[in-house]
Amino acid sequence: MTTGERPFGGFPAVSARDAVRALRPSRIREVANAGMGLDDVLPFWFGESDQATPQFIVDAAGRALRDGATFYTHNLGIAPLREAVAGYVSRLHGATRADNIAITSGGVSALMLATQLLAGPGDRVVAVTPLWPNLVEMPKILGAHVETVSLGYGAEGWTLDTEKLFAALTPGTKLLLINSPNNPTGWTLSAKEQRLLLDHCRQRDIWIVADEVYERLCYSEDGPAVAPSFLDAADREEKVICVNSFSKSWVMTGWRLGWLVAPASLMDDMSKLIEYNTSCAPSFVQQAGITAVKEGDAFVRDFVAGLKDSRDHLVRGLAALPGIDVKAPPGAMYLFFSMPGAEDSLSLCKALVRDAGLGLAPGVAFGPEGEGFVRWCYACDTARLDEGLRRLRGYLAR
Ligand SMILES: Cc1ncc(COP(=O)(O)O)c(C=O)c1O
Repeated sequence: MTTGERPFGGFPAVSARDAVRALRPSRIREVANAGMGLDDVLPFWFGESDQATPQFIVDAAGRALRDGATFYTHNLGIAPLREAVAGYVSRLHGATRADNIAITSGGVSALMLATQLLAGPGDRVVAVTPLWPNLVEMPKILGAHVETVSLGYGAEGWTLDTEKLFAALTPGTKLLLINSPNNPTGWTLSAKEQRLLLDHCRQRDIWIVADEVYERLCYSEDGPAVAPSFLDAADREEKVICVNSFSKSWVMTGWRLGWLVAPASLMDDMSKLIEYNTSCAPSFVQQAGITAVKEGDAFVRDFVAGLKDSRDHLVRGLAALPGIDVKAPPGAMYLFFSMPGAEDSLSLCKALVRDAGLGLAPGVAFGPEGEGFVRWCYACDTARLDEGLRRLRGYLAR
């Protein structure tokens, strides 16, 4: 008998618990898998820059390794990094103490920790969508129930109807999950909307978990170089947790380093959760994080200026193609636009990979509200974007 006939070595197939089996698989992965084995695919489907991490950060990690930073650290992170991050957050958003900072293994882990800390079986969680799927799926792993409130799309691009969101944020709701600047739409909450939401949640005793990993990727013409944050208006000791990451601002996706800002009174429990999830972020990576937050401002400024050029270049190129409705969003690093065939965005994206060698993410990957759109990550140089546009033009002309 061949192994093919006995795929599990003769044992019956076993399965994960129901909550895990019910999780949505990544539709972005489904498209990427369809492109595996094809020679010439230009991938714009994942959310990362094609640039490697700047050398001064790489050098800091190398020095740390040579100096022996190879051991476990405190669960909440090494003190100098917690202090450096507190200084950085204070500079951007007002006084913040190291006691309010926990260092995590990327933004994903920070989100999972915040969710584990707050949401349990049967809890009602509200999320604003379209949204990067991880935020919606994580509470489900813990048995919580997630309701979504969709942004609207119109002449102004993506907008939030605050009244609609307030109607969903009823007393008894445990937690609001909100991501701004938003993946995939680039929609960005205004400071005024944040204050309204904060007041509403305060009055109803609802936690806010704000995913602000794209806060530095914001493109207002003359405005500040950082998106409005809940930290601007919230007291550090109230029911707000803000998640952030080194991945996007300092192009450190593969390093797996992030942080969260949370009430100091939560940190003993957060410490336990970190112990049982990852124990700590890697030691030498934390050392490099100190260099990123202390010496990375010039890099971030130039990186964001380049992203803005790429965004505008791609918007111009797409707007010139037939049947495409695209707007320049104020933040993040994606264009989320409608085009012919996107009513079934998964099939469209598979066809684009197969027939045109163009890798985009299907809108439906970000919830049913995203159907009708596709996402293009523009964090690369304009020559690469031009080649992508050439392929899309060819596909549309067929
Ligand atoms: C909205 C959002 N939050 C969090 C993350 C987490 O990033 P990381 O775990 O690399 O910090 C991502 C990554 O794409 C994201 O798009």
